[in-house]
Amino acid sequence: QEDLFKNVVSHAKEYGYIFPSSEIYDGLSAVYDYAQNGVELKKNIREYWWKSMVQMHENIVGLDSSILMHPTTWKASGHVDAFNDPLIDNKDSKRRYRADVLIEDYAEKLNQKAQKEIEKAKVRFGEAFDEQEFIKTNARVVEYKAKQREILERMAKSLGDENLADVKALIEELEIADPETGSRNWTDVKQFNLMFGTKLGASAESAMDLYLRPETAQGIFVNFLNVQKSGRMKIPFGIAQTGKAFRNEIVARQFIFRMREFEQMEMQFFVKPGEEMKWYEYWKTTRLNWHLSLGLGKENYRFHDHEKLAHYANAAADIEFNFPFGFKELEGIHSRTDFDLKAHEQFSNKKMQYFDTEENKNYTPYVVETSVGLDRMFLAVFSNSLKEETLEDGSTRTVLQLPSVLAPTKAAVLPLVKKDGLPDVAREIIEELKWDFNVAYDEKDAVGRRYRRQDALGTPFCITVDHQTLEDKTVTIRHRDSMKQDRVAISELRAIINSEVSM
Ligand code: GAP
Repeated sequence: QEDLFKNVVSHAKEYGYIFPSSEIYDGLSAVYDYAQNGVELKKNIREYWWKSMVQMHENIVGLDSSILMHPTTWKASGHVDAFNDPLIDNKDSKRRYRADVLIEDYAEKLNQKAQKEIEKAKVRFGEAFDEQEFIKTNARVVEYKAKQREILERMAKSLGDENLADVKALIEELEIADPETGSRNWTDVKQFNLMFGTKLGASAESAMDLYLRPETAQGIFVNFLNVQKSGRMKIPFGIAQTGKAFRNEIVARQFIFRMREFEQMEMQFFVKPGEEMKWYEYWKTTRLNWHLSLGLGKENYRFHDHEKLAHYANAAADIEFNFPFGFKELEGIHSRTDFDLKAHEQFSNKKMQYFDTEENKNYTPYVVETSVGLDRMFLAVFSNSLKEETLEDGSTRTVLQLPSVLAPTKAAVLPLVKKDGLPDVAREIIEELKWDFNVAYDEKDAVGRRYRRQDALGTPFCITVDHQTLEDKTVTIRHRDSMKQDRVAISELRAIINSEVSM
């Protein structure tokens, strides 16, 4: 799995998906740039989300609020006082870690051990294997899982109580060492605020301290009544937005999984008080189905219901994905009560209530939020799609089996040879298709090598123009995953591609 992760990082660079930020200056830790193909994949994921959330829901509208907001926003939201991570330093190496992440990694290793036992038994028992029964009855699996649960529960409780000495004690008890150096010489666990500060204004005296937003959600809350009134929205309704958020993360590893500058896709759903649990369950199911629709494999997702709740929530669950480094949070679904609207009402002295015309009364709506990291979605899709395949003739190929709807380039048009007018025909095909799809042209190298390059780039179709094309206006179309080739009329191309790539 470690190898897979290394491959993901190097493939992303080699094929123009992701570069380290300011690489010529040796990069900036946990900050990345999306390259020519990465920007397309990211845009397509964003659009896939936007379409399902906004276009497909009559009662959800979009918003693009500013990154810089009035500083009182963050006082009201609780971020100034409570947006902290538990931090621990290693005295020997001077390296800094998130205490909860060290413990979670330890717990995930136990989970992986249990999974290994399950895989071994699967092979041993074959058809007759009953996984659920095995998980319940196999002594080792039961022990691993129980220990994993116990550790996570103890940690959650200590973090919830802010009893950070217990978190340190747990690290010592489990004999967790610095992942980089192996040293166990830790400082105490301290709280560390994750917001990035900045200044507004020219002169030092008049400058105002601002924060870069750590979540997009607050831009939605402060605009709640503006949108509701100008859009004549009726509860229940939602406001969706995608955009950058910033966090001064302590753990800066795992590539784009945890970044200091990242993008969120969030939706706040405003509901009648008392109906929040119904909508919470609805959005849990709806969001999981959205993920499943991409076809990355049902077994790669699981829910994790939170025991330690954020300062604003009365119920919360993560949708976790099986990343190359184990199951980790991909999306959060939170029942945020009326915490945010009430807090903004208190700090701004402006009414944040909704007038329900059916009930003929005012109330502060409750909010159910869905929040998914765009970069994490990117990593989930990209790492799950990267495959090394051994072909029938014993040779291998690298193929990026991206869901076709998300692929940066939908088709590459390849003249078989660089002469006899074939490049001209290829260009004509591109001129037609480019109105509907991103298409690429490639005439360099033998056609087999060009196919391999497009496989590694994740392009679902290769269209090859050969001498027969000149006679009967047909081309071959090759499918990335099956490598099957069909001979089809040029006039059919648009419909064939469209049937696979349209959202
Ligand atoms: N408004 C709620 C909120 O911000 P969160 O669980 O802190 O909740 C939501 O973040 C999602 O944003 C996460 O599930 C994750 O996908 C993404 N995310 C959070 N921090 C991130 C980071 N440092 N780098 C990349 N994605 C991040």
